[in-house]
Amino acid sequence: MKDNKIFDLIEAEKQRQSEGLELIPSENYVSREVLDAMGSVFTNKYSEGYPGFEHLDGSDDEVLSVEPANHRYYGGQQNTDKVERLAIARARRLFHADHANVQPHSGAQANNAVYNAWLKPGDTVLGMNLGHGGHLTHGSPVTQSAKIYNFVAYGTNPETGDIDYDELEKLAIQYQPKIILIGYSAFSKIPDFDRVVKIGQKIPDCLLMADMAHVAGLIAGGAHPNPLDHGFHVMTTTTHKTLRGPRGGLILSRGTVGSPLKKPEHTLENIPTLIDRSVFPGTQGGPLMHIIAAKAVAFYEAEQVSFQNYAHDIVSNAKVLADTLTTHGFKIVGGGTENHLILIDMMSSFGIDGKIMEVMMDKVGLTLNANAIPNDTLPPFTPSGIRLGTAAITTRGMSRAEMIKIGDWMRRLAEICVEIHDGKKTESSFANELEAIREEVRQIAEIFPVPGI
Ligand SMILES: Cc1ncc(COP(=O)(O)O)c(C=O)c1O
Repeated sequence: MKDNKIFDLIEAEKQRQSEGLELIPSENYVSREVLDAMGSVFTNKYSEGYPGFEHLDGSDDEVLSVEPANHRYYGGQQNTDKVERLAIARARRLFHADHANVQPHSGAQANNAVYNAWLKPGDTVLGMNLGHGGHLTHGSPVTQSAKIYNFVAYGTNPETGDIDYDELEKLAIQYQPKIILIGYSAFSKIPDFDRVVKIGQKIPDCLLMADMAHVAGLIAGGAHPNPLDHGFHVMTTTTHKTLRGPRGGLILSRGTVGSPLKKPEHTLENIPTLIDRSVFPGTQGGPLMHIIAAKAVAFYEAEQVSFQNYAHDIVSNAKVLADTLTTHGFKIVGGGTENHLILIDMMSSFGIDGKIMEVMMDKVGLTLNANAIPNDTLPPFTPSGIRLGTAAITTRGMSRAEMIKIGDWMRRLAEICVEIHDGKKTESSFANELEAIREEVRQIAEIFPVPGI
């Protein structure tokens, strides 16, 4: 008997995604092949442990020609071992890493596993202030890690929108952190990784960690520098944002890869093995092999030349959209964008909060999220800003003309919000106009279908 309720909702969600445009910067549309791998029989398999890390250099065929060492706690790993080894080999190639752990169930799990690998309770982590663009897992008091470790926050410069590197250096010298973490969910500059490496080198035993969850696809496609190439020890990421894979996490590292069965010394050189032991059995149980298969497919796709074009197109689309919005009076934090993400101060642009704009945009099928801006004085649920990005709409093949169109719709929607907010008109007086914009969005969405659906 089929569960019609859930399958009806899946159909409804397909329709929502097809008829609207996804502007949330942390979302994307995966390929049919990634969807198929996620929905495969690998979901039936338990594979606690690792597939053996020997001979992971070279092409896929070379990796497949090696019989994996048996480091698993369950039988029947003939195929799972090969899948995970391909995923690891492809991730290492993509990100120039000595090692990749493809098992974290999510970005938060990946970050927690790195903390658990390197820190003792009470150790200090220097991470970006959540209110300035950092992520919850970088020290928000509501998280488990903030109860275990001591997080100290650096901020961004309100004028440039960039990291305040002088403050970061001062705090690093003062607090002697065991981890300096560069990572963010709402920041649109390219970090100065070299400068952070120089700061980190002054602090004994300091692990340099980059959480590139948002920009990993840009890094893979060569449209953003790779922190591992600049001397960072570890890079964590999600696999589902610009990287366009299944929902999940990934940890890349530099160092010597040892056996996960043998406890290594606590050194920066041993960080790959410390991380493997921290992911399993430290913080997770069995890996999600269907998701690892889908990650491998996404890495395969990201190794193609077409993905390099995609990554560069994401950035150029974001610049066009940012320029269009600036012309229309939207004040962008930092004055523009260097990646896929645009953060807008709606309060100083139009005197309305971000939630009002988010709700209005949803009515016409444009999805983004309200977001805090640096030093926001409004509460988190109705913050001053909105955050949008171009990863998903670029996947659908949209370019300059569509970015300008989206900017034009947003200008009109902001004007409507202001008129309603000022009490000059009621929302119902805009019903026809909103329906007309909704129809235009639907028409463009139809021209650029969602892949994989
Ligand atoms: C920078 C950063 N790190 C970690 C995460 C957490 O990822 P997940 O939602 O997969 O746990 C996110 C998600 O938004 C993020 O933006």
